[in-house]
Formats: sequence, structure tokens, C-alpha cells
Amino acid sequence: MKYPPFVEDHPQIQLLKWTFWPIEFLEDCAKRYGDCFVVRFGNVKPSVFFSHPDAIAELFSSTHAEILDSGRAQPMLKMVLGKHSTILLDGQEHRRHRQLITPPLHGERMRTYGEIISQITEQVTQDWQPGKSIVLHSYLSDITFKVIVKTIFGLRETERDQSLGVAVRKFLDAFKSPLLYYLAATLPILQADLGPWSPGGNYQKQIQKLDQLMFAMIQDHRKHLNPAHIDMLTMLMLATDETGASLSDVELRDELLSLLFAGYDTSSTVTSWAFYYIHANPAVKARLLEELDRLGDNPSPSEIVKLPYLSAVCSESLRMRSAVPSSTPRINKAPICIQGYEFPPESQLVPAQHLTHHRPDLYPDPYRFNPDRFLNHPHSPSEFYPYGGGARFCAGAAFAGYQMKLIVATILPKYQLELAHPGSIKTMRRGVNIAPKGGVKMVLKQIRVPAQKKVPLGLS
Ligand code: HEM
Repeated sequence: MKYPPFVEDHPQIQLLKWTFWPIEFLEDCAKRYGDCFVVRFGNVKPSVFFSHPDAIAELFSSTHAEILDSGRAQPMLKMVLGKHSTILLDGQEHRRHRQLITPPLHGERMRTYGEIISQITEQVTQDWQPGKSIVLHSYLSDITFKVIVKTIFGLRETERDQSLGVAVRKFLDAFKSPLLYYLAATLPILQADLGPWSPGGNYQKQIQKLDQLMFAMIQDHRKHLNPAHIDMLTMLMLATDETGASLSDVELRDELLSLLFAGYDTSSTVTSWAFYYIHANPAVKARLLEELDRLGDNPSPSEIVKLPYLSAVCSESLRMRSAVPSSTPRINKAPICIQGYEFPPESQLVPAQHLTHHRPDLYPDPYRFNPDRFLNHPHSPSEFYPYGGGARFCAGAAFAGYQMKLIVATILPKYQLELAHPGSIKTMRRGVNIAPKGGVKMVLKQIRVPAQKKVPLGLS
């Protein structure tokens, strides 16, 4: 039986590198072992990483969907998200939840979300003045956090809504530390509730507080259920499966936490990268501004998201840095053959988008930021997959892409920003995401007057 090569470092060293230098670790493995290799992260089951598009196509194909599970590949998340989270389900139950959570994240209501995104972006950046130093990622975190809680819960300015906002943010921000990621993976005992002073106990206390607020919010929505409201919680409550059943309160709680968990930090991270690449490439910035300025005053979100160069810039940014370096592991229930390798049941198979997105056979000169690659050159779902693929394709991809473009289109034409430290930027782990180290420090040079609005010379 042919099997891919194992990475030879000690498993604890592999976990250490994966935690603190994930991109360097993956690239080094690809250099040493090629398209497919097996890593061991500490004492957990080995994982097989793939980068060749043929292998990715197999992992995403609908013919294998029945034998590939993903939910049970992430046991660590169960304690956090609960057992009814779409992210942690498999098979029939996964399909049912996908069907119920998909409508609120698509369709007509995106227009209203678009208005919320633009308004919140303007509100969060309103105190920016020329000369101000900005750590962009922290502003983008504020924006994406406010957007997600507003679109999910429809929060108002009441005291209770604000307490929920604070508890949610505290809960989500707890996942950003790479050290915590490493310790939780190496020492599962840390996850156990060993009293109020233990990390697990403290964490449980936080979850209990959050649950109290979430269930109160769910009860409140049920009492005043109004189909005219456009928040996702209302839509999730109204959604029914083919048997006419809807989500219970506990299922709703798990799904809401999953959307918050999956959607908040990923979005601020990819948008930070986009701002970094746009400002590190002045010709790209100038061309993008020209396209945005051409839209004139107050363009609608639907006009903005259709812009071809803006779309290409966002795709290229997602190619360079996809928030997560790899998709969710797939566990095969039956033997499977991929790229000539045979895998027995219960293997852990991982599509590694960072490696696929940097293959020179797919993307010549792969480390160069070049949005033109996405202009009139479609890439297949196994060549370009920042949002994963197949049955597990990111449920919030449309929302995330929409948000990324609208934030760029709201900030860029208004503020002339410069990188405080031009040159390349290092990566760092923030939970499961790979973020720009230091958060992209920028300086605001001046408030811009878009080219279209400048008074032509000679006219008063
Ligand atoms: C740019 C931002 C985002 C990126 C890069 C991203 C990326 C991903 C990736 C790679 C996966 C795993 C797919 C796979 O294994 O094949 C995923 C799953 C998921 N994402 Fe996103 N995501 C983003 C934003 C969002 C947002 C805004 C939401 C919701 C509000 C969301 C909800 C989900 C859910 C529910 C899943 C689980 C899908 C399933 O298991 O069926 N994501 N995302």
C-alpha cells in the first residue's frame, strides 16, 4: 500500500511550529516532501496534508461526500460551540442544519446587511484625523464585530444588548492567543473544569454567563417574533426543514455561537491583509481608487460589490493569505484512494489552501501580489478555495466577500493611508487564523477628495 511521507521532526516540534510559525512550517514541509505529506501534531492522530488540485477536487467531490466526515474531526470545539453546531455535525443532521442556516446568509437581505456594513464602517472610523497613527486590525475587528452582532441579533443600544455584546466579544477574543492554542492542544487537562481558578473552570463560568444572555435574547425574540425583522436570529427561528420542524433553543444557541465564532475574526483578518497588500502596491491602489472614484457619490452596495478590479484585488488578497492556512480535516469512513495513495478508514485528510494558492504551476510568481490573475481568468474550486469546498464550503462566504469589499470601498476613497513600516510583514497565529503581525500599522496622511469631485483647474 503506497502511503505519503511522514514529516520527520518530533511531533511536539511539529505542533510547536504549526502553532507559532504555521506558514513557514507548511512551506518547509512542501519543499521537503512535495504535494502530499503526513504531519503529527503532538499526541493527536496524524494528518495528511494535500496541495495538488486533483487531490483537492477528490476531497471536495460530491461522490465522496457520504464517506467524508468533518464535524467529528474537531472535538476541541464541542466544549465551545455545543454539539448542535453545523461545524461539528456530519451526515444527515449536517445537511439539515446547512439547509436551515443558509438562507439568512444569502439573497435579498444582503442589501440591508450592506447598508449596515457601510454605516458601521463610517461610524467606527469617524474620529480618524490627519496625522493619526492607526493599528488597522483593531479598527477592523471593531467593525466586523459590530456588524456580526448587529446582523445576527439586531442589537439595539439597550443595557442588556450591550452586556450581550461585551460577553460575546470577551468569549471570542479568548481564542486569539497562540499560546492558549498550543497549551489546549498539548494539555487537554487545561480544558477540564477543575474549579473557578482553573483555566477550564474560568472558561466554563464565561460560557455560563454568555448562555444566560443568549437564552434571554432567544426567549425575547420568540416572544416578539416578527418576520419583518431582518436579523439572522429571527430568520433562523422562522426557518423549517422538510418535515416542518424548526431549530430548538439549544440548537439556535449553538448555531448563533458558531456563526459568531466562524465569522468575526476571519473577516477582520482577511480585510487587514487586503489593506496591507493594497498599500504595499501603489499601482494597485491607484487603479482601485480610480475604479471606486468612477462610481461617484453614495454608490449602492450592490454597485460596489460588482466592481471587477475590487473583486480581483480581494480574491488576490485571499489567495495570498486565506485567513486559515488549511480547511477542516476530512475523516474517511471507508478506504479511499487519492493521488495514488491509499488511505485506510479513519485517516485525517486536510486540504491545505495556503500551499495550493502558492503553487507556481497554478499561479506563476506566486509570492507577487497581482490582482490581474483574477481578471477574466476563472480559477476552479480546487485551485482557489479560501472558503474551503464541497459539502463543508463556508456557509458565510457570500456575506464575508460582500463585507470585505464594502469595508475597503468605504475606507479607501475617503482616507489617504500609508503603511507606517513599508516592506514585508510577518504573520502570526490568532486562534485558527493567520493574521498580520502588529496588526498593520498605518498613518493617516489626509482626508481624500476623490478625483471625480476635484474642481478642474481654471474653474472657480
Ligand atoms: C473571509 C472570511 C471567512 C473565511 C476566509 C472563511 C473560511 C472558512 C473555511 C475555510 C471553512 C471550512 C470549509 C471547509 O472545510 O471546506 C469555513 C466554514 C464555515 N464558515 Fe467561514 N469563513 C469566513 C467567514 C465566515 C462568516 C462571515 C460566516 C458566518 C457569518 C462563516 C460561517 C462558516 C460556517 C458556519 C462554516 C462551517 C460550514 C460547515 O461545516 O458546513 N464564515 N469558513
